[in-house]
Amino acid sequence: MGTMRLDRFLKEQGIAARSELKKIIKKGRVKVDGKICTDPGFHVDPETSRVTLDDAPVRYSRYVYLMMNKPGGVLTATTDRSARTVLDLLPEKYRRMQVFPVGRLDKDTEGLLLVTNNGDLAHNLLSPKKRVPKLYEAHLDRYPGESAIDAFRKGVVINDEFTALPAELRFISMEPVIAHVEVYEGKFHQVKRMFRAVGAEVTYLKRLGMGQLKLDETLEPGGYRELTEEEKTLIGAE
Ligand code: URA
Repeated sequence: MGTMRLDRFLKEQGIAARSELKKIIKKGRVKVDGKICTDPGFHVDPETSRVTLDDAPVRYSRYVYLMMNKPGGVLTATTDRSARTVLDLLPEKYRRMQVFPVGRLDKDTEGLLLVTNNGDLAHNLLSPKKRVPKLYEAHLDRYPGESAIDAFRKGVVINDEFTALPAELRFISMEPVIAHVEVYEGKFHQVKRMFRAVGAEVTYLKRLGMGQLKLDETLEPGGYRELTEEEKTLIGAE
């Protein structure tokens, strides 16, 4: 990776908007390799330059990866004119880093949502060709019968134009009826439509995992945190 302007370096770390950054730099609050630098256009090497703001180190990382426990009632979108979106739950810092949700959960669906600014990684996690399983817990209004397991394994026929890819289904409780299902694609209302096709309605849906990444159940609904190094490795992030 080559050098970059100091103001861009700080902007990509979500420190402040570019216009605000110029002021911060001009005031002498930023040092590069121990020396005050008042030139926003000064070139730094993200890998080797030591940059500080008010003497606190600013470490560079190209991408950010957040795990969110999505609450019900919030849209999986970056903006919406009236409804609250998952990005509204994050501090300005991350929005400045231009993060977006990886895939969509319905408004009423809860659970694991990855939020990042790494488009390639998002694509890899979502493409059915990459076969990354998404694990859901579904509460159902009735037991659709043992035959549903086979139907899911073969690929549920939703309608003329859509047969779901084979999915793994297991029932983990009968009263109430709760199932775990692993799917490899994310079409609109995928899981709800698959259950409807075998005669049961989903009354509650929560995503528990994406590939090897599991929801941190200690996160409150609406809570989020950055992925650990180990978790980043699990999803193939740098
Ligand atoms: N399938 C659904 O039906 N809804 C979701 O939110 C996710 C998967």
